[in-house]
Amino acid sequence: MKISSAKQKILLTGVTGYIGRRLKQRLLEDENVSLNLLVRHASALHSSAIEKTSIFEGSSFESEVLARAMEGVDTAYYLIHSLGQDDYAQRDRISAENFREAAIAAGVKKIIYLGGLGVVNEDTSEHLLSRIETGQILSARPDKIDVIWFRAGVIIGSGSASFEIIRNLIQKLPVMITPKWVRTRAQSIGVDDVIAYLDAAKEESINGSHMVDIGSEILCYQSMMHQCAEVMGLKRLVIPVPFLSIGLSSYWLNVFTPVPFGVAFSLIKGLRSEVVVQNDMAQTLFAQIHPLSFKEAVQKALQEAEENQVISRWSDHGGDVWETDHKDSIANAFFIDRQELPLGTLSAHSVHQSYLSVGGENGWFNFDWLWVIRGFIDKMARGAGLNRGRRSQNELRIGDSLDFWKVVDIQDDERLLLYAQMFVPGKAWLEFKINEGQLVQSAYFLPKGILGRLYWYALIPLHYLVFRDMIRSVLSRAKAIEERSKEEKK
Ligand SMILES: NC(=O)c1ccc[n+]([C@@H]2O[C@H](COP(=O)([O-])OP(=O)(O)OC[C@H]3O[C@@H](n4cnc5c(N)ncnc54)[C@H](OP(=O)(O)O)[C@@H]3O)[C@@H](O)[C@H]2O)c1
Repeated sequence: MKISSAKQKILLTGVTGYIGRRLKQRLLEDENVSLNLLVRHASALHSSAIEKTSIFEGSSFESEVLARAMEGVDTAYYLIHSLGQDDYAQRDRISAENFREAAIAAGVKKIIYLGGLGVVNEDTSEHLLSRIETGQILSARPDKIDVIWFRAGVIIGSGSASFEIIRNLIQKLPVMITPKWVRTRAQSIGVDDVIAYLDAAKEESINGSHMVDIGSEILCYQSMMHQCAEVMGLKRLVIPVPFLSIGLSSYWLNVFTPVPFGVAFSLIKGLRSEVVVQNDMAQTLFAQIHPLSFKEAVQKALQEAEENQVISRWSDHGGDVWETDHKDSIANAFFIDRQELPLGTLSAHSVHQSYLSVGGENGWFNFDWLWVIRGFIDKMARGAGLNRGRRSQNELRIGDSLDFWKVVDIQDDERLLLYAQMFVPGKAWLEFKINEGQLVQSAYFLPKGILGRLYWYALIPLHYLVFRDMIRSVLSRAKAIEERSKEEKK
C-alpha cells in the first residue's frame, strides 16, 4: 500500500558510501522529503548537501547522536557498512542493534535496509553472513517497527566494486585464466535501479518485516565478462580452470583491478555460491520498476565514467581514515619534507586548481614512473596501489580516493591535504598550501618504530628528486591554466 505523498522526514545513513551518496542525491530532488543525514565526518559532504539537510555528526555507536538524528523521523535508511575495518562483523552487529533500538525509541515507522543477496550454506562468505545478520537484527522487532530489507547481488554502476573489477579485467587482459566459479550464476542489477527501489520504498506502507530481493537477468560471471567485453568493443578469452585458489585469485584481482586484496578476497569467496533472487516481493510491491539488463547497465556505467559523471565509488567511504585526528597527528609528525616557492604573478585560484588536478590519468606532475613503481610495490604488499585513479578528472572532493591517497581536506584556494592509504610503516600526508603569496608543499611522516624511521631515511634521495620538482611543476601547470583561461576569454 502506498503512503500518501505528504511531507516525510527521513534519516539517511551511509551518506558517504557508494549507495548512500547516490540515494542522497535522489532524496534531495524530492520536495516532499525533509532530510536528516547521519555522517561521521561532515566535511566529506558537499556544501550544497549541507545547506539543504540537517546534519548529525557522529556514528551509530553514539546513542545520543542517534536519538537526535531520529527525532520526528518517519523513515530511516540503514546503509551502514564497516567492511574493511577490523572486527567488521562485530561492529556491524552492535551498530544495527543500536540503530533499531534508537529508531523504536524515537517512534520511527520504518527502516529501509540494503544488504547482500545470497543463501546461507557452507560456502557463504563471512561478509555475506554479516550482511544477513545485520538484516536479521534490524528486522527482529516487527511488532515495534516495520522493516523493508532489500537484498542485491552484483551491483553494476560507475564506480561499483563489481563493475570496476569486470571492466579492469576486460580492459587489461585479452586472455584470462579464471577460477571455475566464474560459471556460478548470479543476478546483477544496475545501480540506478537499486536507487529507484530504495526511493520507492519510502512511499510503501507495510506491516512487519519484509525481505525484498532485487535483480535483473541471471548470468554467470563468465557471461558477464563476455557481455561487458562486447559493450566495450573488445574480444576476450576466458578460460576457467579448477586449480586457482581463492588466495591466488584475490591476489590476481588485487594486482589487475583497483580493489585491494581484502575486498577481492570477500568478493571471490562470494563467487562460490549462487547469488540469485529468492522471492518475488520486488514484483509484488514495486511492479512499476523494470530493471535494466546487464548490458544496458554496463553501457550506462561506461558512459558516466567517460563523461566524468561518477557520483560515487566503492572506495568513497572513509573507514578508519576518520579515526585519525589529522591535525594532531600532523603536528606530531617529526619527519617533514617542505618545499616553498613564491606564487609570483599567479593567482591563488589557478595554483589551487593546478594541485587539485594531481593523480589518476593526470599523473603526478613528474617522475610518474617512480609513482608507478611505488604503486606496484604497494599492490604487492596488498595496499591500495595506484590503479584506483580519480573519481573524476575535473573535480576533487573530500573523501575521494586518489590513487593510493585519500583526500582529507580541501579549502578553497588555500589547501589540499592527502592522507596515505598506501602500505607505509607509519602515517603519511602530502599537503599543498597557499600561504602569504607562497606555495608550501609538505610531506609529513609519523613513523612507526625503527622500520618507519629507516623507511624515511631510505627515501630521502627520492623525495629530494620528486618533491623539489613537483612544486615547480605545480606552478608551471598553474601558469598553463591561466594562459588557457585567457585564450578562452578572447
Ligand atoms: N556497493 C555494492 O556493490 C553493494 C552490493 C550489494 C549490497 N550492498 C549493500 O548496500 C549497503 C551500503 O553499501 P555501500 O557499498 O554503499 O557501503 P560503503 O560504500 O562501504 O559505505 C559505508 C557507509 O557506512 C558508513 N559507516 C560505517 N560505519 C559507520 C558507523 N559506525 N556509523 C555511521 N556510519 C558508518 C561509512 O561512513 P564513513 O565514510 O565515515 O566510513 C559509509 O558512509 C550495504 O549494506 C551493502 O551490503 C552494496
